[in-house]
Amino acid sequence: MADETENAIDALLQETRWFPPSDEFRAKANVSNDAVYETARNDREGYWAGWAEQLDWQTKWDKVLEWEPPYAKWFVGGKLNASHNCLDRHLATKPGKLAIVWEGEPGDVRSYTYGELHAEVSRFANALKKLGVTLGDRVAIYMPLVPEAIVAMLACARIGAAHSVVFGGFSSEALRDRIQDAGAKVLITATSGYRRGNLVPLKKLADAAVVECPTIEHVVVVMRRAAADEADDTVTVNARDRWYHELISRESADCEPVWVDSEQMLYTLYTSGTTGKPKGIIHTTGGYLTGCYATTKWVFDLKDDDVYWCTADIGWVTGHSYVVYGPLANGATVFIYEGAPDWPKQDRFWQLVEKHKVTIFYTAPTAIRAFMKWGESLPKSHDLSSLRLLGSVGEPINPEAWMWYHRNIGGERCPIVDTWWQTETGAIMITPLPGIVATKPGSATKPFPGIEAKILNQQGQPVEVGGGYLAITEPWPSMLRGIWGDPERYEKQYWAKWPGIYFTGDGARVDADGYFWLLGRVDDVMNVAGHRIGTMEVESALVDHPAIAEAAVVGIKHEIKGTAIAAFVIVKSSAIDAAKSNLAAFEQELKQHVSDKIGAIARPEKILLTVDLPKTRSGKIMRRLLRDIAEGRALGDVTTLADPTVVASLKERYEEES
Ligand code: PRX
Repeated sequence: MADETENAIDALLQETRWFPPSDEFRAKANVSNDAVYETARNDREGYWAGWAEQLDWQTKWDKVLEWEPPYAKWFVGGKLNASHNCLDRHLATKPGKLAIVWEGEPGDVRSYTYGELHAEVSRFANALKKLGVTLGDRVAIYMPLVPEAIVAMLACARIGAAHSVVFGGFSSEALRDRIQDAGAKVLITATSGYRRGNLVPLKKLADAAVVECPTIEHVVVVMRRAAADEADDTVTVNARDRWYHELISRESADCEPVWVDSEQMLYTLYTSGTTGKPKGIIHTTGGYLTGCYATTKWVFDLKDDDVYWCTADIGWVTGHSYVVYGPLANGATVFIYEGAPDWPKQDRFWQLVEKHKVTIFYTAPTAIRAFMKWGESLPKSHDLSSLRLLGSVGEPINPEAWMWYHRNIGGERCPIVDTWWQTETGAIMITPLPGIVATKPGSATKPFPGIEAKILNQQGQPVEVGGGYLAITEPWPSMLRGIWGDPERYEKQYWAKWPGIYFTGDGARVDADGYFWLLGRVDDVMNVAGHRIGTMEVESALVDHPAIAEAAVVGIKHEIKGTAIAAFVIVKSSAIDAAKSNLAAFEQELKQHVSDKIGAIARPEKILLTVDLPKTRSGKIMRRLLRDIAEGRALGDVTTLADPTVVASLKERYEEES
């Protein structure tokens, strides 16, 4: 944990401003009595069972929780279907209510009522069955943010298949690795997706991936074409390919959901860890849906007439839990937008809020910092009065960004919910309840009722006030159930630090009011613009380049992204002259190489050539020293580490200083 951050937070704590819920908000809030915390604590299982009862079950559970650390089963013996809970159960009361309102980057708009979405999902589920997909199969989804991506997820859920969504910004190789690891049978993709006016050729990237994926039997392709674009017509169609629109046109809108066990895998989602290989986090059905349903209802204070917009892509867990499962299980109207916030202009989001009368807006601090940079005149030029609640997720929100968001987007009237959680936790864990909890800019406040979060020291003892490691000390319904194909890694990664206690990998502080202040990762995972990337993943990509012998990657401070990637590389002696002859081009080549291997989100900001890497005696790279060098701190004058003696002397000086 950086001392600087701690000092800044200490300073902040002294003069913290409180933002209590307004009387008006509290009066209408879904939950306004703080007794819920106590009730949940006194009978946690009963409390969660109360939430689960609000969902539809075909067979009720016999037992709420079976906990054999680190393996939990929730709602044991119960049977349900996630797609039924997101669709069918709303049909009786609100068949004509809008479920999805979508706007594409070029401005094309489509919407689906719950009735229409139910029909489309059922048709596609029938089509998947005909393609041989059945209970327990894995289906990969590699798509832009179009309604069909949500249809695909729910169609898998309807027939008991697990989806594995791969973010459309990932490279072909990243897609290949994830398909191979999950052993997916079918891949659902699109011809392309729009990004800043360009077409990202998803089908082409998918084709390249699938060549090395023998488990894939069929590729289903959604035609993503805005009216004026012809480019999509040129995609290649192979014998194993099927057009989505042709498939659904042949199928009936009747598809009985497959009632699955509460512990049936709903999906796997790959996320970065401390090794070079991303891990497939497993979520199951009953507990996950209960967690998403409960948190969406209380944290976002969701009402029947809300227009809810979470800006996350479905490629991330936020898209799974808070674009799809949480809001749809609540019967909400979900707005989604395909493209970039600055396309065609930097006011696109505010234009969308105004046009679609968005009431709840949930985004990431990195986006808020970009909006700040672009200036307050942009939101001011739009009518944002429909907004009534704002959310933040993905990384710590700095108090300045919080205040800017509060003033310029929330008009000083909207509560802000800063929600801390992870791919692994499935649902929001630390957050204000907007009708109850007074917020402090920069703090995610308190654990959601029914969640036991603590700050522990290295030995696992609780810290009452102060800093340490964030841990979850009791099981919760939406917790991960494992890592696909790697139970050992699951046990070691999350449960080995303190037996029976979940280690989050985050550092945090708790203040005298019991408020949590998140400080970032304490492991080798970076959070770049709210996206998790492992230092080792980027290092592996770099050493894969023929000119690179060794690489070390660190996260450095970045004004917008929060963290950016700096890579120290040792160039092979055979390649050094060529590299030095055109350094700028060589750096570009390396950056592009990482982008091709992983995706643009992993592209290093800075490349530093070195002849040696500072290591501890046990051979561990001294990342803190590298960070200091990359950020130009303390050891200032060093711009290149081309001389081996420089590294040695730096190391010495550093060791003396720290
Ligand atoms: O470091 C924490 C940070 O994001 C990590 C989880 O990343 P991921 O699994 O990709 O999920 C992101 C969306 C839930 C955490 O370990 N993080 C997430 N939300 C916050 C946060 N850090 C501080 N404040 C948050 N609100």
